[in-house]
Amino acid sequence: MSQTQRDTWTTRVGFILAAVGSAVGLGNVWQFPFQTGANGGAAFIVVYLVAVFLIGFPAMLAEFVVGRRAERNPIDAFVRLGHRNWRIVGVLGTISAFWILSFYSVVGGWVIRYILGSARGSYFSGSEAYFGSISAGPEAIFFHAVFMALVIGVVAFGISGGIERSTKLMVPSIVLLLGGLAVWASTLDGGAAGYVYYLSPDVSALRANIWTILPAAVGQAFFTLSLGMGAMITYASYLGRDDSLPADGATIVVLNTLVGLLAGLVVFPILFSLGVEPGSGGLGAAFITLAGAFAQLPGGRILGVAFFVVLLLAALSSAISLLEVVTSYLADNTDVSRPRIAVGLGAAIFALGIPSAFGLSILGWYNAIAYNLLLPLSVLCLLLFVGWVDAGDAVTELRRGTGLSESSALAWLWFVRTIVPLGVLVTLLLGLQTLAV
Ligand code: PHE
Ligand code: NA
Repeated sequence: MSQTQRDTWTTRVGFILAAVGSAVGLGNVWQFPFQTGANGGAAFIVVYLVAVFLIGFPAMLAEFVVGRRAERNPIDAFVRLGHRNWRIVGVLGTISAFWILSFYSVVGGWVIRYILGSARGSYFSGSEAYFGSISAGPEAIFFHAVFMALVIGVVAFGISGGIERSTKLMVPSIVLLLGGLAVWASTLDGGAAGYVYYLSPDVSALRANIWTILPAAVGQAFFTLSLGMGAMITYASYLGRDDSLPADGATIVVLNTLVGLLAGLVVFPILFSLGVEPGSGGLGAAFITLAGAFAQLPGGRILGVAFFVVLLLAALSSAISLLEVVTSYLADNTDVSRPRIAVGLGAAIFALGIPSAFGLSILGWYNAIAYNLLLPLSVLCLLLFVGWVDAGDAVTELRRGTGLSESSALAWLWFVRTIVPLGVLVTLLLGLQTLAV
């Protein structure tokens, strides 16, 4: 094990913003509004919010507890806590991070391409053809490389000097730009129908489709909170002893949820003002539909640039948390310098992502494996560990540095033992069914 001093967050706000940066990503701005559209609008949001607070939040605290107590990367964390065999959970999370970043970066590359395309108006003559031309092939690979290079650049500088410093700029910029776009979207003719669709749940639709809505909502909750990939374990491992985990976790969950809802306040009025129903949440649909909308709206170039810059900042601040997961493992275990580790791993992840830059079906397959298998499985194992193996120490760790009563901590433990794994299990089984089809 390397003897060098481990880096830490400089401030509590720094940690919170980095974690919010990890959470707020393509999942919120790109996937969430379209998942909502595909799953019947506001009814989906209700289930999603319940999943975020009842399942995602306790699971996030479980990751925090493991990370902060061990002060190690997700694999060694379990060894340090005295449960060598459970490092399989960390291995699973680290593999997931590696896997997910590989195609997340391909989409990140599209986003960079769309910023340029918006500025030039390249997609104004045909949004679908444009998407087809940039999403697969040499250009997609090139911009995948550019995105990955940016991610490597940040992670190479470490926790306080790279991740903390950059997310302190990125996250407020995301909120400001998105807020501005939401105000602008509210001025669109006919956009109000979007608010209705988005904000008033149809209970009968909810009842009829609960078995498709439920796994989609729980899966989205995990993905958006960056759970199951070791990211929150890793970020918490750089945390000081006396921060309040429940308070920080709640702040992160609430901010992430607000940004997701804000993204909906941008996307839905735009779509409805042009008479487009946010139908299927296909991977390309979001890009094609939104770009198509910018092409028709006055000031579309500037708005397009602003929107895709938001998307880029969101994607970057998430991708760096994924690269940090794998980087931390080697940084903790070897004497190789952090910049070298980041470059080496980044290059390997880039290579793994190349097939996804050859076609949407491959990217969709990568995504489905992550969403339906890796994430829920990894979260489930972590919950079993924290809830049953490490329970007593986990409760103590959760309360450290807080005024949290023992009964509240035990309530959390009860959730981690029962409702949360049950929810994950149902999601996993239903999700595997999707994979099998
Ligand atoms: N939370 C990110 C999003 O919503 C995705 C992500 C998952 C990032 C896991 C890091 C770790 O897009
Ligand atoms: Na992000």
